[in-house]
Amino acid sequence: MKLDLYNYQAEKAFMQKHLIKLQDYSQDEIYQVLSKALELKQKHKEKIPHPYLSGKSLGMIFTKSSTRTRVSFEVGIYQLGGYALFLNANDIQLGRGETIGDTASVLSRYLDGLMIRTFRQEDVEELAQYSSIPVINGLTDLLHPCQVLADLMTIYEKKGALAGLKLAFIGDGNNVCHSLLIGCTKVGMHISVACPEGYLPKQEIMETAMKNGMATGADVLITHDPLEAIRDADVVYTDVWASMGQEEDFVNRVKHFSPYQVNIKLFSHAKDDAIFMHCLPAHRGEEVTSDVIDGPRSVVFDEAENRLHAHKAIMVLLMGDRANNK
Ligand code: CP
Ligand code: NVA
Repeated sequence: MKLDLYNYQAEKAFMQKHLIKLQDYSQDEIYQVLSKALELKQKHKEKIPHPYLSGKSLGMIFTKSSTRTRVSFEVGIYQLGGYALFLNANDIQLGRGETIGDTASVLSRYLDGLMIRTFRQEDVEELAQYSSIPVINGLTDLLHPCQVLADLMTIYEKKGALAGLKLAFIGDGNNVCHSLLIGCTKVGMHISVACPEGYLPKQEIMETAMKNGMATGADVLITHDPLEAIRDADVVYTDVWASMGQEEDFVNRVKHFSPYQVNIKLFSHAKDDAIFMHCLPAHRGEEVTSDVIDGPRSVVFDEAENRLHAHKAIMVLLMGDRANNK
């Protein structure tokens, strides 16, 4: 039966407390997020009020830069009737050595949810351990789950399906690649990843993706050959060659990553109707050329917009009144 996320009937109530990593979510729970995001997008476009988080507050801790994540969470909770606080880690006592545990305990007394973008995945897990409120992972060195929920939503909108499609990720086996490996295989999407030697995804993530794939029918291919990865892809995805925190290694990385640039020649080996995706920010002339990212098959700004709708869905499901599924 064709997946209909516009009229999705959840198998059971949404029971997740946090969004730390997509691997914690079942396929049904991922579909619930996507379905809620599509519903909220529709309501927003039709100017139907949806104040499901009226009077609620989200704290947003950042130890790294952000445009999309920060603005979409902040505007998102505002549209839901709530309020966001931007907490630069250097401005709160966390930056002066207050423990993650104490920070979590205190913020749990004031807030209804916490979003954090930081370096170490373990720090997000520790924050969740000490929080009585939901914690949302807004990117770590290891994972970027919010991004991939918005990406799956975008793919569904553009292609009308998820399972059975093929996504090719060309570039660094980084946080975005890791979450794509997990997210795609959870929903039955084939994924092929092409990275230079020394820049493959982490072994444990590859193994988890392969295990997921065995359950959902998703094939996982990891290769050093970008042509092999991109052949017959429905979705072509890339990300920066040096992520936040890796800037000093950039010159070295360029040498390894140049053959992995998504240019029009490489892109032509994907399916004729393939779409191009990038989490942004992008570096034109590095991981992608302008004729691809600014070309007719690029969906990067729809993808960026969907961060707003996906984040609103995550907040509603985690922070809302569960009895009313709002
Ligand atoms: N894609 C993404 O997370 O963008 P920001 O770094 O601007 O939040
Ligand atoms: N891999 C990139 C993603 C930015 C949204 C980084 O971590 O900097």
